[in-house]
Amino acid sequence: MAADRPKQNDAMDGVQAGVLAGVLGWPVGHSLSPTLHRYWLHENRIGGDYVLLETPPEDLEKVLHALPDKGFSGANVTIPHKQAMVRIVDRLDESARRIGAVNAVTVEEDGSLSGRNTDVFGFLENLRAAMPGWQATGAPAVVLGAGGAARAVVVALLDAGVPELRLANRTPEHAEALAQDIDSHIRVVPWENRHQALADAGLLVNTTSLGMAGTPPLALALDALPETALVNDIVYRPLETPLLKHARARGHPVADGLGMLINQARPCFADWFGGRAEDSAGLRAALIKKMADPER
Ligand code: ATR
Repeated sequence: MAADRPKQNDAMDGVQAGVLAGVLGWPVGHSLSPTLHRYWLHENRIGGDYVLLETPPEDLEKVLHALPDKGFSGANVTIPHKQAMVRIVDRLDESARRIGAVNAVTVEEDGSLSGRNTDVFGFLENLRAAMPGWQATGAPAVVLGAGGAARAVVVALLDAGVPELRLANRTPEHAEALAQDIDSHIRVVPWENRHQALADAGLLVNTTSLGMAGTPPLALALDALPETALVNDIVYRPLETPLLKHARARGHPVADGLGMLINQARPCFADWFGGRAEDSAGLRAALIKKMADPER
């Protein structure tokens, strides 16, 4: 109820009314989302802004419920709030419910809040853009990792009709728990058998943090992977991870992690600002520049 909404909070200090969206996170300074949305705002000549909403967990409900009064059309949700948001919004789409995480909230006309998960769309669109004609139904998929990102990837692949999903994770209990939560047909593979699990696969996805700047590379022998298989890394810092470099050298089609970030934002932009939001060389250049110089 509007009367119950707090009038002020720190994350909203200094935010001007208008067509607005933002990203709720803690910390959130590293987010590339403002660069993405401002690029599209400029391209579409739409007045408005996309701002960082630095929100500690104890302020999450307060900041969220202040969005309608502050003129926000919606907000993205990032670490560590994606799971908590499931319980706070007024309704959830099917993907958000199955994944157990919300990455985007839309303010409806009546001020109520709808939670969505556009990571599923972003993941699949990225693969289709990297390899036109790619279909999940063609061959088994191998997913490495069982964290938050893996849940979205797994739901996306199952919904897209993958015939077999092999899941390997360092901590097998996490993979078992994911399979139990989402779909018992997922084949959990021991982490040490991940190399052999690549045989006859059509897709390999790394959702672990291995390969990210500052972490060791993912140790993985690609010998068993058919040469036509698409290789995707969720990691985008660096853009070309050691896994993608190795896969490219073997002749595999590859999809980088930046494409998923861009594509999950496209339906959000269309929904909140009403313009066209496309992946483009210009957008990628802006994001790469921002990653290289975060203070810009
Ligand atoms: P995200 O939300 O991005 O998926 P996360 O939930 O922290 O991040 O998940 C990180 C994933 O990387 C997990 O699958 C984790 O494996 P565990 O479940 O065993 O923790 C995986 N990971 C992180 N460091 C790893 C390492 N050194 N070796 C293998 N897997 C690792």
